[in-house]
Amino acid sequence: MRILGIETSCDETGIAIYDSENGLLAHALHSQVALHAEYGGVVPELASRDHVQKTLPLIRQVMDEAGIQPADIDGIAYTAGPGLIGALMVGTGIGRSLAYAWGVPAVAVHHMEGHLLAPMLEESPPEFPFVALLVSGGHTQLVRVDGIGQYQLLGESLDDAAGEAFDKTAKLLGLGYPGGPALAKLAEQGNPDRFTFPRPMTDRPGLDFSFSGLKTFALNTMQSHELDDQTKADIALAFEIAVVETLAIKCKRALKQTGLKRLIIAGGVSANTRLRTRLAEVCEKENGRVYYPRLAFCTDNGAMIAFAGCQRLMAGERQGLDFSARARWPMEELGRV
Ligand code: KG4
Ligand code: ZN
Repeated sequence: MRILGIETSCDETGIAIYDSENGLLAHALHSQVALHAEYGGVVPELASRDHVQKTLPLIRQVMDEAGIQPADIDGIAYTAGPGLIGALMVGTGIGRSLAYAWGVPAVAVHHMEGHLLAPMLEESPPEFPFVALLVSGGHTQLVRVDGIGQYQLLGESLDDAAGEAFDKTAKLLGLGYPGGPALAKLAEQGNPDRFTFPRPMTDRPGLDFSFSGLKTFALNTMQSHELDDQTKADIALAFEIAVVETLAIKCKRALKQTGLKRLIIAGGVSANTRLRTRLAEVCEKENGRVYYPRLAFCTDNGAMIAFAGCQRLMAGERQGLDFSARARWPMEELGRV
């Protein structure tokens, strides 16, 4: 089955064609970073308008690259949520309409299920069951995954998501948007012995997270020190280490609690080098293994949506002619495949 995937849930237009026999045929991404940079964050209305302009040309580009005509497409997968409602409506509207026009089935894909399955696009994909750490701009969740659509939430952030904490702290440090990569880059110059930030909620049982206090801790540290370039780098590093160590402690706990040996990490923050290295160490110690997507598929992309949609379409799932986008959409509501 050859599936066209459309991702427009936030600030990237991602398009891909995935073939169940031959894998990924082509993919392309248009990032809106430059568009939102001067505002220091995503402006939802600008995001929607840009998706309107970019989605169809990008679909044409990807189909040309793959040498594919509409008649070669067997189904369309689009992100229907969660995300920015206006942005989601663009991909949802275009995806459902193209499916109608081309006479092929459509399927509404959950954005976080896309992230969660992204490691399966790589060579030697993980087998079920596994523990998934989903760390993006909007979500921080530990999930037990027994199969596609079989998700048991083990823990999640009670306030800011990990990526959101990166973005907010980066903003305090005067770094641009998106803050995560910028903060990680600054942290490379930091001295690890200068500051130690807390590891929130690790001293009590459970697998939930809380990251908003770290941002405040960073602010207090900034206010009580002369803010030269070195101090900023030291704060960035202390913050990054605190987030990574907190995630590592909870991942280890989740593996112990479930008795599972495989861990996957996905979502924008899984692009963080320190996190990837640390979780690989944790899994090695536990005689387990960590799996993650290639860097380009950690952050939002069309390939993960085409892949997730393909699994659901192959299982017979279909979206009717009625369709809607959902800003909020708990992953546990997804049906089994
Ligand atoms: O998955 P994603 O592209 O979009 C959402 O679904 O939210 O994740 C974006 C988030 C942003 O908060 C961004 O700052 C963070 O991922 N991020 C990073 C890195 N690359 C992206 N955070 C830390 N280190 C990175 N290298
Ligand atoms: Zn995402």
